[in-house]
Amino acid sequence: MESAIVRMSDITKSFNHVTVLKKVNFELYPGEVHALLGENGAGKSTLMKILRGIYQPDSGEIRIQEKVVHLNTTSDALNNGVAMVFQEFSQVPTLTVAQNIFLTREFRSKLNLLDDHQCEVRAKEIFDDMGVDIDPKQLLSNLSTGYRQLTEIAKALSQNARILILDEPTASLTETETQALFNLIRRLKKNGISIIYISHRMEEIFKISDRITILRDGQKIVTEDAKNLNIQQVIEHIIGQKKQESKEIPVSRDEKDQQVLLEINHLECERGVHDVSLKLHCGEVLGIAGLMGNGQSELMQAIFGMNPIRAGEILIREKIVKITDPAMSMKAGIAMIPEDRRNKGLILMHTIRENIMMPMIKLNRLPRRKFFIDEKKGSQVVNHYVKRLNIRCDSIYKQVGLLSGGNQQKVVIAKWLSTNPDILLMDEPTVGVDIGAKQEIIDIMRALAKEGKGVIFITSELKEMLSVCNRIMIIQNGHITRELKNSEIQSEERLNQILQGA
Ligand SMILES: Nc1ncnc2c1ncn2[C@@H]1O[C@H](COP(=O)(O)OP(=O)(O)OP(=O)(O)O)[C@@H](O)[C@H]1O
Ligand SMILES: [Mg+2]
Repeated sequence: MESAIVRMSDITKSFNHVTVLKKVNFELYPGEVHALLGENGAGKSTLMKILRGIYQPDSGEIRIQEKVVHLNTTSDALNNGVAMVFQEFSQVPTLTVAQNIFLTREFRSKLNLLDDHQCEVRAKEIFDDMGVDIDPKQLLSNLSTGYRQLTEIAKALSQNARILILDEPTASLTETETQALFNLIRRLKKNGISIIYISHRMEEIFKISDRITILRDGQKIVTEDAKNLNIQQVIEHIIGQKKQESKEIPVSRDEKDQQVLLEINHLECERGVHDVSLKLHCGEVLGIAGLMGNGQSELMQAIFGMNPIRAGEILIREKIVKITDPAMSMKAGIAMIPEDRRNKGLILMHTIRENIMMPMIKLNRLPRRKFFIDEKKGSQVVNHYVKRLNIRCDSIYKQVGLLSGGNQQKVVIAKWLSTNPDILLMDEPTVGVDIGAKQEIIDIMRALAKEGKGVIFITSELKEMLSVCNRIMIIQNGHITRELKNSEIQSEERLNQILQGA
């Protein structure tokens, strides 16, 4: 038997009497990239948190370099060379990038003073190695989600990891950044670092991984060389049945026949939006495509009252509306699923039910009995979306903070869908959700459009954009530079070329 760098055997773990990992075996070999796949709630993060010393297994054994280890704390794991980039960030926005990377491990000067300069120099070296251009001196709060993700990776690398766990590292990266990350992974691999790679993006898994392990309901289904599997087989292992591809291709309807639902004229905003004009018609899904940080999220935030408008106007059904905060936007029939869902979308201490019902209650959309809201109706709506998006939970009264990362994302999505908005703004709604839910979200967008509503969609997965948008607007440095009908774009590659400015 080849000697493994990690050998986890018969790992079992329960939370409050619910077993989430059942006798899982997992091996990692030196210098391999091993993809760990499965639906939201399958147990991927839990298995990795056990390897990172955050959780302890109820039973089973862990060997590192074939020696039995007891990873009772995170320092035990670090001492054994295990580092992890988490699905949920644990960063401090008010500190600089360098300070975040070296948090609790700061360099000290001879007088034991904090040596920020040393941290910055070291951070710069790591970024140079990674081939990314981030100024270590700037505040973390200035960075977009994608760049924060890269900072997290730099942090793991600064810990001299031999075993690097990446829990959905590309979730908020663009194509180009993903490429940069893959180059980095290949470089690390050459240096003998072993990588465990968790992702819900099927295409990329085959580009980067040597082997694939699939979990379903806390059990290991298969471990296999990537070259012996294809996407279809992987999906079948993940969901446990054959997947139905939906084949509908969006067509641009004749705009003359369509009522204008939302019109934006010469919008100028505090952040990242310059002289933007656009129209969204009833029954349309409009894509806003651009490289990360070109103003697409800022534009959406402006429509939702989260990016102050300096000049220009917004009209809904031909009437000028003044939007200065999200409440006004919601009243005007707009809902937004934000990109940064964990921070902007949920109260982690509250239950699934409370979280989903929040906007419905605010908007007075739930029937009332005398002065009280109709609790039964509320539960019905919640149950409908829990089922539709397949939110993995034993009850709708479960605390949201205890759900897996992807299931939390689904709760935010459910929360806004349940308000039944006229205009839905979706910023990367499929990030972090499993293959089944991705399809469901696409189907929901189509259904809303069919009902005559309008959707504005941002995604870095160009395939998704092409599968659902009638029209696509290209945004660059906050300006709309081009508008394309879906039928005018032949392929994903072509759209990517357009984005790259080719
Ligand atoms: N601290 C906890 N307390 C209670 N239950 C938990 C806890 N952590 C995880 N779970 C449960 O364990 C199960 C597996 O969660 P885990 O986070 O490992 O899933 P995952 O495969 O990483 O999913 P995702 O793709 O959504 O990130 C879920 O049902 C989740 O609710
Ligand atoms: Mg997870």
